[in-house]
Amino acid sequence: METKTNEQPMVELKAVPNGPLLVKGQVKIINDAGEEMVMDKTAICRCGLTQHQPFCDGSHLKV
Ligand code: FES
Repeated sequence: METKTNEQPMVELKAVPNGPLLVKGQVKIINDAGEEMVMDKTAICRCGLTQHQPFCDGSHLKV
């Protein structure tokens, strides 16, 4: 069952075992250079091996 609060759409975060954090729902990502990106769906690296921080580039599959 989906629950909403404050009329904001719900953002879903799902951890993939030994992989990224899947993000579903509109989020604003600000990188370390201060650049902002708005995305509806993305995968955030949890392993630290990606060459495309903060996003998963599949490098976790090579370990
Ligand atoms: S989780 Fe996929 S590259 Fe880190």
